[in-house]
Amino acid sequence: MPTLAELATPAVLVDRDRVAANIRSMQAWCDRHGVELRPHIKTHKLVAIARQQLAAGARGLTCAKLGEAEAMLPSGVRRLFLAHSLADPGQAARVAALADQLDEFRVAVTSEVHLQALERVAAAADRRLEVMLALDSGLGREGVRDAAGAGRLAAALGRSRRLVLRGCYTHEGHFYGVPADELPARAAELVDRLAALRDALDPGLALWPGCSISARLVAAASRGRVQALRPGTYVFGDLSLVRAARVMAESDVALHVLATVVDRPEPGLALIDAGSKTFSSDRTPDGISALAADGRDLAVVRVNEEHGYVRGAAVDALAVGERILFTPAHVCPVVNLTDTVVVTAAGVTVETWRVEARGRTQ
Ligand SMILES: Cc1ncc(COP(=O)(O)O)c(C=O)c1O
Repeated sequence: MPTLAELATPAVLVDRDRVAANIRSMQAWCDRHGVELRPHIKTHKLVAIARQQLAAGARGLTCAKLGEAEAMLPSGVRRLFLAHSLADPGQAARVAALADQLDEFRVAVTSEVHLQALERVAAAADRRLEVMLALDSGLGREGVRDAAGAGRLAAALGRSRRLVLRGCYTHEGHFYGVPADELPARAAELVDRLAALRDALDPGLALWPGCSISARLVAAASRGRVQALRPGTYVFGDLSLVRAARVMAESDVALHVLATVVDRPEPGLALIDAGSKTFSSDRTPDGISALAADGRDLAVVRVNEEHGYVRGAAVDALAVGERILFTPAHVCPVVNLTDTVVVTAAGVTVETWRVEARGRTQ
């Protein structure tokens, strides 16, 4: 195993102990508040981490795509939720195979028109499918927009021979734009609103909100009304969770990018060997792709495919060849852009993991 100084860069490093602590801490929080944890695997895409989440007590896993779900089967998962609008009957054989291999396989139903498409998938798969009804809580993506829409979709499901309604879910991704001090009140209001919507349909239905920014607040506000949460990013953390939302400490961030300074073309600027093909083009609201993890004032303020432009007060002290650990703005695409991650423990490289669900967008 190459040492940190020997690793080819850019390299994606995962801190084993911090990942384990993040998994334990979210699971303990959910347990304390009587809410199941069904983590979204889109952030880590790694069987090894899915195994840890399940061993810690996760009730099941969440995936966006069939390919992610298939890639996670070796983790031993028994309950999976596919939180995406399945609409292609050509995928029926894969849907049937997943349903047959799991104790519980739930899929999303996201509107009345989507219901028609999902019926065709279920018919082609020749399976009854358990569904979670999507409620749009403000993101404006999938899900019924109001109580009347929820009522109509639930009624249509009641008439379906193939689709069985088990609960409601929402993805409150718009919370990433909410100021940190407003988050607790917004989460409490979200739970009240969603629980009322669910109760109007059927109080026996499960309610599954909860992404990384809101998961703990939603659990704390639940008081028995929320059955499961699906955070994904919490497992590694990134600048969006640390800086904007302040729901995670910088010292808990478990994934970093190791990059090398390859040039100093002018005063005040360093170029590194990690650009948008490493960090993606996602940035913080103030335009930063990544920040130095050691606290030095070094920010990746612009990216081309294979170059990162680093600026900040500490840039002029950098030498070509120097290696820097960066915390990315948004961690999920970083994992999806790398074949392997290097696992570290106490700052020493210990293992390399292949990212099994990397690129599984189908
Ligand atoms: C449907 C759904 N559930 C859960 C999550 C996890 O959210 P987060 O990335 O904040 O952990 C996402 C993220 O995109 C999502 O789309």
